[in-house]
Amino acid sequence: MKIIEVKDVSLGYNGKAVVEGLSFDVEEKDFWTIVGPNGTGKTTLIKAILGLIKPIKGKILVFGCPVQKVCRHRKMIGYVPQMEKFDPNFPARVMDVVLTGSYNKLGAFKMPGKKERERALELLRWLGMEELADHPIGKLSGGQQRKALLARALFAEPRALILDEPTSGVDIVSQEKLIELIEKVYREKGLPVLFVTHNVNPILHLITNAVLLGFGKHAAGSREILFDRKILREIYGKEIEIVSQEGRKYIITGDYHHA
Ligand SMILES: Nc1ncnc2c1ncn2[C@@H]1O[C@H](COP(=O)(O)OP(=O)(O)OP(=O)(O)O)[C@@H](O)[C@H]1O
Ligand SMILES: [Mg+2]
Repeated sequence: MKIIEVKDVSLGYNGKAVVEGLSFDVEEKDFWTIVGPNGTGKTTLIKAILGLIKPIKGKILVFGCPVQKVCRHRKMIGYVPQMEKFDPNFPARVMDVVLTGSYNKLGAFKMPGKKERERALELLRWLGMEELADHPIGKLSGGQQRKALLARALFAEPRALILDEPTSGVDIVSQEKLIELIEKVYREKGLPVLFVTHNVNPILHLITNAVLLGFGKHAAGSREILFDRKILREIYGKEIEIVSQEGRKYIITGDYHHA
């Protein structure tokens, strides 16, 4: 079953295209990574899939429904936005933020109760954050805020997960834990994942497909394109190293700075 269909889509702002003519289909049990240099439109693509911005051209369907139409399908997607730090004085506790993930499910007028709180605590426990449940979210570190947002996204038992650089700014141990949690959800529920990242190595074992976005060029398809030096050079504009160690491949992109 096709979960997300991106059909010959062009995206941009003020009539200026950032991405042009992109097509790919996300199916059940797919794990897609979206990679590419800064400013090539990864977040823009995700926002378009969520129906937050309208394509200049082409069509996007989620669970068979055009995203611009009013349908419930958008609510089936769990979304962790790219790092946006909460204001230090943001008036909500971690628990409140995780519980906002329940509103879609409960409907606007039903308040979360004991059952919901227990489930939120369970998720926070899994992420090693239980003791922070009553802390003001704005006073947590960036990595802790990321985890709280992942807990919120998972809370609603989504049928697809979209994660925009969920591990950036997260320490190595917590990063492993976060990826472990995402893997657990992915394997147990078989729900498709879209994972934007600048470092694919920690998730290489999960990736089934990839979208590579460059400036004025892109590639989308099976995971093999991640190991295609020619495509990588086109996307990143420089040589990318692929090293093998203990039977596993690693992609070494180094730091990329677009002038
Ligand atoms: N709201 C907006 N209005 C106008 N231009 C925008 C807007 N949001 C993004 N852009 C531009 O669109 C391009 C793509 O931005 P986007 O945030 O999608 O990049 P990205 O690939 O997610 O980058 P990064 O790796 O830094 O997160 C950039 O040139 C950016 O400046
Ligand atoms: Mg981005």
